[in-house]
Amino acid sequence: MRLAYIWITLLILSILIPAGFWYVDWSKSGDGAGLYSRDWLPEAVFGYWNPDDFYQSVDTVVGEFEGEECVACHRDMSPGIVKDWQASRHAQAEPKVYCSACHGSDHQNLHLPTPDICATCHATQHDQFMDEKRYGFPSHALAMERALDAKHFVDKPKAEVTACLQCHSVATKCDSCHSRHKFSAAEARRPEACITCHSGPPHPDDETYFNSAHGQLYLNEGQDWDWSKPLQKGNYPAPTCAYCHMSEGKHQVADKSIWKFGIKQINPLSSGNVVKRQQWIELCSDCHEAEWSAQQLSAMDRERKQAWSKLDEAEALLKGLRSDDLLSPSIHQRPPYPGDDAHTLLQRERIGFFEGQASAFYNVSPIERDYFDMWYFSNLGAYKGSAHGDVSFINKGHKAMDQQLEDIRRKVTNIRAAGKTEADKTDPENIWLKGEYTEYNREHN
Ligand code: HEC
Ligand code: HEC
Ligand code: HEC
Ligand code: HEC
Ligand code: HEC
Ligand code: HEC
Ligand code: HEC
Ligand code: HEC
Repeated sequence: MRLAYIWITLLILSILIPAGFWYVDWSKSGDGAGLYSRDWLPEAVFGYWNPDDFYQSVDTVVGEFEGEECVACHRDMSPGIVKDWQASRHAQAEPKVYCSACHGSDHQNLHLPTPDICATCHATQHDQFMDEKRYGFPSHALAMERALDAKHFVDKPKAEVTACLQCHSVATKCDSCHSRHKFSAAEARRPEACITCHSGPPHPDDETYFNSAHGQLYLNEGQDWDWSKPLQKGNYPAPTCAYCHMSEGKHQVADKSIWKFGIKQINPLSSGNVVKRQQWIELCSDCHEAEWSAQQLSAMDRERKQAWSKLDEAEALLKGLRSDDLLSPSIHQRPPYPGDDAHTLLQRERIGFFEGQASAFYNVSPIERDYFDMWYFSNLGAYKGSAHGDVSFINKGHKAMDQQLEDIRRKVTNIRAAGKTEADKTDPENIWLKGEYTEYNREHN
């Protein structure tokens, strides 16, 4: 009897596993890219942000060119590009790294350089960069996949989400921090190289850094520092983003990451995280005492514990409403996310990180949205405050979380008092259910 169960289980698995792989392959094989490739079409500009998947060469110029031929014609055609290239180390190297080394020489078959092209001469940086994948999300090397596989990327109107890939293109080309065509290491060492992407409410790295003692020093004195020096002990009086996250020029931002963006509860004392913490302490010890640095960093852990006790309470309240069927609109009333057909068997509102991050963005009841704001904006802001040593952001984030938690408690009491019928009436004009936005979405992705 027991043996029969084992065989049946094995048989079912041997069908389900390949079917799963087949389904993922099939869903990735549309005109778009990523898990929902069949649900959207690429914009022309994606060719520049994700050239491997989307770039199509122009056919207006015919012929094969080399070296100075490219430069000569482009000097009239795109003088800015030629000037930047001439000012770069590539133009000063011996032999010169010409346009064709990165773009190819057949003008009807040009390519835009992916990290693999840079790797032909810069294997060290490329390999360090790719090594980030070992540490999972978030990371630069996986950033494009992360955006393309996010439900809200395919489900919102193009006008709102096109820019996702501009920031997440950090994975698919190497000119994010040292911009083309100067490709200057000095430029990449400065915080301005990072904050084009590392800004905004879910990741206020710019504000928290500039408010910190380090950022203040940079703002006051940074113009006099010698940026041609590598990011090593003794070369800079105060650290910049890259000094801390890419120390010694290592192209690897994920290997020390403990709190992973602040988006989920983490145990900072796991054996892997203790090793990472030691690396942080060594880094701070370039300028501070080790013991003192360790204390600063464990203050961050305490702040996180406090934040998560608030978030856990809010999440539990919401899950309570869900189990009593008091969320409105309910899952059955909400327009489905793309790819959600598979969930028809077990339909339920997904709450919190582990049940579905994207589902919390919109298409939810007002109280779920309150929790989202608390978790995604107030909490992540407070986290970056403590990671970067900005007390004002810690206070602001926690004050907002306290307020939001209080609101959620009050709303839960009201919803429970009103009961099921009232719950269904709380938000008759819910914009996610019907109306311009939802209709437009359905037609345009
Ligand atoms: C070290 C590699 C490298 C070299 C050398 C290089 N490029 Fe580029 N080029 C790039 C990268 C990277 C991009 C951005 C690709 C993307 O957007 O995906 C780019 C983009 C471009 C673009 C399109 C985007 C824009 O900025 O207008 C043009 C045109 C261009 N390069 C021309 C040239 C010319 C002309 C030369 C020689 C003077 C040259 N490139 C040399 C790496 C290089
Ligand atoms: C005879 C002039 C001429 C020569 C020689 C030439 N280009 Fe161009 N190139 C152009 C023109 C014109 C365009 C704009 C084409 C368009 O937008 O349709 C262009 C566009 C480009 C682009 C941008 C393509 C895009 O999709 O945005 C790149 C990259 C580029 N050239 C690289 C090169 C390289 C590398 C060489 C040498 C192998 C080269 N060019 C030689 C005239 C030239
Ligand atoms: C054909 C070989 C080759 C290719 C391809 C190449 N590079 Fe370079 N790169 C060089 C050489 C040579 C130098 C100069 C090294 C030196 O002077 O020590 C250099 C220097 C650099 C520097 C240092 C600049 C500084 O300010 O110190 C950066 C950054 C850089 N490359 C980025 C890139 C990127 C990004 C790509 C791909 C888009 C790329 N390179 C493609 C050969 C190449
Ligand atoms: C072109 C946009 C862009 C630029 C420029 C950029 N980043 Fe990022 N960075 C991202 C994105 C997008 C992610 C999140 C990727 C994901 O979804 O997993 C990220 C993630 C990170 C992480 C999180 C890694 C982890 O494991 O938690 C660190 C640290 C980081 N970046 C540091 C930097 C630093 C330092 C600079 C400047 C030297 C910089 N980034 C420049 C877009 C950028
Ligand atoms: C201004 C640049 C920027 C834009 C625009 C942007 N992102 Fe991000 N995104 C980031 C950065 C930076 C991080 C990581 C922050 C950190 O680690 O603290 C991130 C994180 C993420 C994460 C979580 C990473 C993880 O692994 O858990 C996802 C998913 C994501 N972005 C998807 C998107 C989607 C979808 C859009 C468009 C709706 C978008 N992003 C727009 C910069 C951007
Ligand atoms: C998140 C920002 C960021 C990204 C993305 C990035 N770099 Fe860099 N790069 C830097 C910084 C910062 C430095 C200066 C490091 C130092 O001071 O030692 C640098 C320096 C370099 C140098 C010069 C190294 C030296 O010792 O002179 C090369 C070459 C280089 N990068 C290649 C690449 C390649 C190839 C890629 C794509 C795989 C890439 N970079 C992507 C930030 C970045
Ligand atoms: C003094 C060093 C230092 C400086 C300077 C610094 N950071 Fe951080 N950053 C940290 C520490 C420490 C953490 C928390 C890491 C952890 O424990 O996970 C962190 C977290 C992050 C994260 C989330 C990754 C994670 O592990 O959760 C991102 C993204 C980030 N910083 C980007 C930046 C950017 C962009 C700048 C510049 C505007 C910057 N940092 C400046 C030390 C620094
Ligand atoms: C390159 C040198 C350098 C590195 C690396 C560095 N710091 Fe600092 N830090 C300074 C300087 C300079 C100051 C301002 C002067 C002071 O108060 O000591 C400062 C100030 C601070 C302050 C504010 C102290 C106060 O009394 O207001 C904190 C907190 C701090 N650093 C934490 C850290 C942590 C944590 C790390 C490692 C993740 C770190 N620092 C890495 C140079 C550095």
